[in-house]
Amino acid sequence: MSADLHTDSAAEGSLAQAFTAEHHDIDAGIEQYLADKSTDDPVQRAQPLVTALQALRRHIYLEEEIVFPHLPKGALMMPMMVMRKEHGELWQRMDALEETLRSPSSDHSGVEQACTEILTLLDRHNMKEEPVIYPHMDADLSESEQEKVRDLLEGGEMPAGWVCEALR
Ligand SMILES: [Fe+2]
Ligand SMILES: [Fe+2]
Repeated sequence: MSADLHTDSAAEGSLAQAFTAEHHDIDAGIEQYLADKSTDDPVQRAQPLVTALQALRRHIYLEEEIVFPHLPKGALMMPMMVMRKEHGELWQRMDALEETLRSPSSDHSGVEQACTEILTLLDRHNMKEEPVIYPHMDADLSESEQEKVRDLLEGGEMPAGWVCEALR
């Protein structure tokens, strides 16, 4: 409809766009938690954060198990190693943050600090992943692989107990 669609892959089917959009959704969930200063119902307040962390774990699962194995090994070997290492750092911080959320103490300052750290890590991670890795999802995955990833992105679940590669 719009005349300024510059490439075919910029249409709705681009995996790079879909994964980038998920980055933004996850950031938004964490930011929504930080912006909400209500104190009367901590469980209710934490809901967007809990949802964002679940989405981030699944996002990392899809990247590591479904996407990365299909990308060209040569040029992307080092960048994918860096991505996996950073996934490990994010995963450990999510574990610690969720543990704090489960503890009965209602001190939110520690949680807010952890959220800010995760946002900073995500920023550094995504600013490399989006330009270096994501264009290959559209360029180097076969049509059927892209279809599979798209289906999983829409409705797939992370297997219970799955842990990112850096922590195995
Ligand atoms: Fe990633
Ligand atoms: Fe990502």
